[in-house]
Amino acid sequence: MIQVSNLTKKFGAHVSLDNVSVEFKKNNYVALMGPNGAGKTTLIRSIMGYYHPNKGGVLINGLNPIKERTKVLDNISFVPQLPPPIKLSLEELIQYIQTSSNVDKELIMHYANEMKLDLKSNLKKSFFKLSGGMKQKMLIAISLAKKSEIIIYDEPTANLDPKARDDFYRLLKENEKEKISLFVTHRLDEVKEIVNRQIYMDLGKIVSDERV
Ligand SMILES: Nc1ncnc2c1ncn2[C@@H]1O[C@H](COP(=O)(O)OP(=O)(O)O)[C@@H](O)[C@H]1O
Ligand SMILES: [Mg+2]
Repeated sequence: MIQVSNLTKKFGAHVSLDNVSVEFKKNNYVALMGPNGAGKTTLIRSIMGYYHPNKGGVLINGLNPIKERTKVLDNISFVPQLPPPIKLSLEELIQYIQTSSNVDKELIMHYANEMKLDLKSNLKKSFFKLSGGMKQKMLIAISLAKKSEIIIYDEPTANLDPKARDDFYRLLKENEKEKISLFVTHRLDEVKEIVNRQIYMDLGKIVSDERV
């Protein structure tokens, strides 16, 4: 379970999260929506322990994600809004993920294949040099192969063509069981079928939270 309590996060004078309290439980499949700058990414990054809050805090299954970062992140599959500048080749990256997070290499290959990412002919290529869509596919493949209790996607389909989007949602549907899933999205129509809760944020606050 994810427990966010009275969370305030400021950047300078700007209040990105304004006293936010919310809980996510098993089998919550959540669309997190709202205009640019609403605080969605800040909320997600806070859940993963990237930011020290100004007030309040987060607990993930009772653990503080700042103090017990590794333990908490072990249990989370995350695809960020912007792919990180990873300089490793795909081969090295897959090896690294397998070693560091105990994710099955074959399963990464499987999901990459399902996402129509031609991994075999790109293994020596640097992740950094892939196209935006290819990076996204690679990160999605890793996130699906890592069997976590919590999956978080921050606008994961922004760089994907319509076919790749369909593949992604098909795989998610197959993968969804007894988890907490958070999807930051501007496209409710895309996630409508896979979410059962819609949260809308604006100006650092949750303005609506509905079961659907
Ligand atoms: N690392 C940061 N440094 C300074 N300001 C930030 C930082 N991250 C977010 N902000 C500000 O916080 C507000 C919320 O941003 P963000 O959480 O990224 O919104 P969203 O993901 O909903 O578009 C924005 O005004 C943004 O400029
Ligand atoms: Mg964002």
